[in-house]
Amino acid sequence: MSAENVRVFHVSDLHFGRPAVPAQIEAIEAAIQDEKFDVVAVSGDLSQRSRSGEFQRASVFLRDAGKVSQTIVVPGNHDVAWWHAPLGLGDRSKIYATYREFVSPELEPALYVPGAAFVGLNTSHGITRRTLTWNLRDLSIIGDLKKKQFEYAATAFSRAKKTDARVIVMHHNPVKGELSQRHGLKRTKTILGTFAEMGVDLILCGHDHQESVHFIEHTRKGTVIATAGTVSSRSRGGRPSSVNVIDIRPDEIEVHTRVWSRDARNFVAGPHRCFKR
Ligand SMILES: [Fe+2]
Ligand SMILES: [Fe+2]
Repeated sequence: MSAENVRVFHVSDLHFGRPAVPAQIEAIEAAIQDEKFDVVAVSGDLSQRSRSGEFQRASVFLRDAGKVSQTIVVPGNHDVAWWHAPLGLGDRSKIYATYREFVSPELEPALYVPGAAFVGLNTSHGITRRTLTWNLRDLSIIGDLKKKQFEYAATAFSRAKKTDARVIVMHHNPVKGELSQRHGLKRTKTILGTFAEMGVDLILCGHDHQESVHFIEHTRKGTVIATAGTVSSRSRGGRPSSVNVIDIRPDEIEVHTRVWSRDARNFVAGPHRCFKR
């Protein structure tokens, strides 16, 4: 790792369990071991149904990645056993119990490497009054961020060097998916504005199951939003699975998408975009 450049491998929505595709998982695990990225970031939905067997497989994935890279992981809506406490009725500590046991005791980890500070935020709160929607299909799906989470992120970033890139890792996509036409999060405009005020350079997220890269202009700060596609059979519109490799440099952020190729049985170079910081 050089002091200035940070190379990040960003995957999302692995959905260990039925949707996982063994050949794709193997290819990712090999890439992580071969290329020794500075950071491996997993933006949620590690499981399909919050089952302990699914999380156990995820924990092996993270343990192996941790041998060669620093890792950061946050839960997704599939990783929350919301049925233990719908609408806050019941024991809320139960909804993350299995995730905490197998994946990480920390739902909102922070990770500091030379050149970048990563702050994980948990957008998956199960079914809450705040995220109630008229669309039944969305009930346990919609993501949310609360005021005290922004305060936590601001404090965590304040511990980093001024020149370090500020990176948020969270599950839900704050930009509408092209095919889904859905935001993953409530109040996205406010949330993106708050991140810009906080000087966030990059947001790593997933959830939409379609890869995309956006640059949001703001008076204070432009923010790059990298939404990783899924690595599972649940890709949107039959598109191939994909992962992102992101180079954070002092003056720019470059996002390379790697797309699953059936012929190569591997992830191969796809589109890439570069943004001035
Ligand atoms: Fe997902
Ligand atoms: Fe999700």
